[in-house]
Amino acid sequence: MHCTRKINDNLIWVGADDRRLACFEGVYGVPDGVSYNSYLLLDEKTVLFDTVDKAVYEVFFENVAYALGGRKLDYLVISHMEPDHAATIESLVLRYPEVRIVCNAKVKVMLAQFFQKDYSERIDLVKEGDVFTSGKHEFTFFMAPMVHWPEVMMTYDKTDRTLFTADAFGTFGALNGRLFNDEADFFVENLSEARRYYTNIVGKYGPQVQAILKKAAALDIKTVCPLHGFVWRSHFGDFLEKYLLWSSYTPEEQSVMLAYASVYGHTENAANILAAKLTERGVRVRMYDTSVTPPSYIVSDAFRCSHLVFAATTYNAGVFVTMENLLHDLAAHNLQKRKVAVIENGSWAPTSGKVMRELIAPMKNMEFIGENITLKSALAENQLAALDALADSIAEEIKPRPAVAASAPAEVPAAVPAAAPPSVDGGAFHKFIYGVEVLTTCVDGKDYGCIINSAGQAASGDPKKLSISVIKKNYTAEMIAKSGKFNISILTEDAPYKLFQRFGFQSGRDTDKFESVTWTERTANGIRYIPEYTNAVLSCEVIATEDLDTSVLFVANVVEAKVLSKAPSCSYAYYHAHIKPKKNPAPEQKESWVCRVCGYVYEGAEMPDDFVCPLCKHGKEDFEHVVPVVKKKQKGYVCTICGHFEPCEGELPEDYVCPLCKHGKTDFEPAEQ
Ligand code: FEO
Repeated sequence: MHCTRKINDNLIWVGADDRRLACFEGVYGVPDGVSYNSYLLLDEKTVLFDTVDKAVYEVFFENVAYALGGRKLDYLVISHMEPDHAATIESLVLRYPEVRIVCNAKVKVMLAQFFQKDYSERIDLVKEGDVFTSGKHEFTFFMAPMVHWPEVMMTYDKTDRTLFTADAFGTFGALNGRLFNDEADFFVENLSEARRYYTNIVGKYGPQVQAILKKAAALDIKTVCPLHGFVWRSHFGDFLEKYLLWSSYTPEEQSVMLAYASVYGHTENAANILAAKLTERGVRVRMYDTSVTPPSYIVSDAFRCSHLVFAATTYNAGVFVTMENLLHDLAAHNLQKRKVAVIENGSWAPTSGKVMRELIAPMKNMEFIGENITLKSALAENQLAALDALADSIAEEIKPRPAVAASAPAEVPAAVPAAAPPSVDGGAFHKFIYGVEVLTTCVDGKDYGCIINSAGQAASGDPKKLSISVIKKNYTAEMIAKSGKFNISILTEDAPYKLFQRFGFQSGRDTDKFESVTWTERTANGIRYIPEYTNAVLSCEVIATEDLDTSVLFVANVVEAKVLSKAPSCSYAYYHAHIKPKKNPAPEQKESWVCRVCGYVYEGAEMPDDFVCPLCKHGKEDFEHVVPVVKKKQKGYVCTICGHFEPCEGELPEDYVCPLCKHGKTDFEPAEQ
């Protein structure tokens, strides 16, 4: 029986899930399955975008026939010839003998190779920038070589603003009935599998991914249709941000990926001790036994973390095989720009450290942290200091601490230099230990909410009293003035940045901040609260209001309060240290030569005349010389709350308010970008 989903009035998903596949591409375990997406457009002509893997051919053909509703299939657009999307092309042509194939020249060659048939007569060849129409819909084609094979292309439907992205923006995991990103809690439940998919499938080809992202940046995109995983119809920018990090090999977080290979547990013991020492210093550690966890998961977290520690025993006068495999895999995926520490073990002739270094050293921009730590059979008592030193060194980079003066001055200097005029440093306010909350209210059936960091008990007794201050320009403040009541949902340390973006960085004047959330809970006063990433909710009725110039203070009776979880509350300081993303420096643009055929990037100002592309074997004449444009840095101020950059040569006006989060001048600090 057919199983389809409608994307819009003209476009239908006709793909299928596969939950029985043990290993995707014969190597990547997919415990949550995988989806093969195919899309059918019903216009004056009917157009199918790619087919599916042969494992799901039965339901796929039922889907196509059902969605066509008796019409003939006019066109098949082929984005990618890998058999998980192309295996059923031959059967499709047999079932729909009039179908014409729209593809590029490289696809044409592969079609003949895979199916040993000449499809020339039914092929309409397209190339970069060509336009094709199916009636009301107009398509443009963009070549995306090596994302993930050389023949890959993307198709942009200008009419519906839909981009068909082939493998890009795909994820491991069956759809399980959900098709759109907002039908899943993507950044909580699916991001790790999207990361594992990207890093293992196209991680090697970061420059080529960057090249296609640049092309896509010029398009007005409403919907993104990849060949695996969810169709994106909202918040695509959040996923795009991840792609920009992954494809530039920029760590997503300042943390440690610790992988060890241990035969009898002694190397593992040292790894455990180091992990404990790092954790005690406030460093997040993601830890793997290379004999237990398949490399694809470790590769994924190696892309995620800024620092890598490899600990392995010596084996056959080399390094233990699972560690050797992992390091080869990391090199094959082009991992770069990481800080690396090495721990080796060997009972009579330790060699694993040397071999690990030799495997890591050729990777680009890898920086070793100190010398190898060498264990002889087991960690000795007197080696704890070496692990302490390594943990200190990593912690210092990840969580810089204020320098401590070596000694107090013997006496106050007689002449004190003229003091600078007193000023208010917004950073000092981040030192208070106070929490972060979502403030919600409801007026005329409409829900409003914002992030605050000002809730506190104003008086004990019965009823208890609570005070909050809210920036006046914040729409929620206006709405509380009308409703006279509000809820406070106290956020916990696991609250994702997305939640702060949702409630903190947009205005309820023009946005429904509750759009597409999956929860609907309300307290007895009828106001919504946040049931996830919170540990308590308090319902309050306003009894007094005080104008505080830029903010308004509400004092309220607490009429209902309940504890939702035991998770620790998120302090404002914790938000700044661990949740708010650190600004990533823009990747350095280098003079280079880019292969027009496959996208290979040769770094350097001069390319030898006899240079041959190592990927597609084309010569220098097929390379384009790319000279980066040097952008002058702009002076301004950055909002320490939401990261908004305001260009400004002089001082910000006193009454300046952040256009994103509505915080004032005191929350800005000077910056350049
Ligand atoms: Fe999903 Fe590159 O195939």
